[in-house]
Amino acid sequence: MRLANTKSLIPGTIVGQAVRNENGSVLIQRGLSLTGKMINRLVQQGITYIYIEDDLTSDIHIPTVISETTRIDATNTIRDTFTSIRQQGFANRSFIMEKKNGQMTSVVERLLDEVMNRDDALSLLADVFVTDDYIFQHSLNVTIYALAIGTELKLSKEKLVQIGVGSMLHDVGKIFIDPKILKKPSGLSDVEYETIKNHTQYGYDFLRKQHNLPLVVAHCALQHHERLDGTGYPRGIKGEDMHAYAKIIAVADVFDAVTSNRSYREAMLPHEGLEILYAGAVNLFDKELVEAFKRSVAVYPNGLTVELSDNRLGVVVKQHKHLCDRPVIRIIKDSTQQDVIPYEIDLSTSLSITVKSCFHQIA
Ligand SMILES: [Fe+2]
Repeated sequence: MRLANTKSLIPGTIVGQAVRNENGSVLIQRGLSLTGKMINRLVQQGITYIYIEDDLTSDIHIPTVISETTRIDATNTIRDTFTSIRQQGFANRSFIMEKKNGQMTSVVERLLDEVMNRDDALSLLADVFVTDDYIFQHSLNVTIYALAIGTELKLSKEKLVQIGVGSMLHDVGKIFIDPKILKKPSGLSDVEYETIKNHTQYGYDFLRKQHNLPLVVAHCALQHHERLDGTGYPRGIKGEDMHAYAKIIAVADVFDAVTSNRSYREAMLPHEGLEILYAGAVNLFDKELVEAFKRSVAVYPNGLTVELSDNRLGVVVKQHKHLCDRPVIRIIKDSTQQDVIPYEIDLSTSLSITVKSCFHQIA
């Protein structure tokens, strides 16, 4: 299987991995031959990459990050919680989390278990999902990334569960904001932008009244858009005043925001998302956390076409759990761009060779 930008697909391309909606239902079957209409629909739905079948790479395994049942249960828990909060009158809201907290904690424990015991680097690109409500998918992805960072830092289970719950609820304040503004694809006015920023304070005000949740969960909602140099919001506090969990969620949040499928812009690839984090790793984000994240995420996911520093072209076939930017590459073209009988090189042992670029189109 190979990863292909949807804009580069041609009719007749065979789908390598099913495209699902957030409930796990299959929208496009594996093995299906794509028509022009289907390709247009994928692009319109904001899906930037899918896996396609390809003779040279038919044996490449695409690892999934978390099991399908856990993903569905986690998404449903997030959706149920957010929907209950939205539907209840304000007076009843303080009771909602009493019912939902146990459910949320157990789903975080399951996610944690799968994140900790995974065999491979984290690669969310493996799961191609179409979602009409971005906030549920985003809350789940941020939770997975934040748990991966926390695991890398060897935090206690108690702390990891708190980080997980804080991540799931970090954007809960968006419930109190007009969906028309939230879903506006671009061109937000200054007033609208200021309105969206309020989700941090709204989330904090709601969560701090939930007596069965630790107060730190409310601080995750309040501080996840703060930045080390004080340029964040809502208060513009600096790194030393930010809670450690909020710093972790800030890294996870930005990475997911730029690498997710959205209808109004292309999703970045993981190495591009990491570049954004590294660019901010002195002023905006805690460098140690960015590095911990880089150690856990598949920088070059399986199926990605890459050009190496010696101009050879290949496809990523296998990850190393602890050397996430040095995968195994199957070479398909030599340095003069001539086809070769495919063979593999392991970048974790061939240290003089680096990935020079990644192909957005199938080469
Ligand atoms: Fe947010």
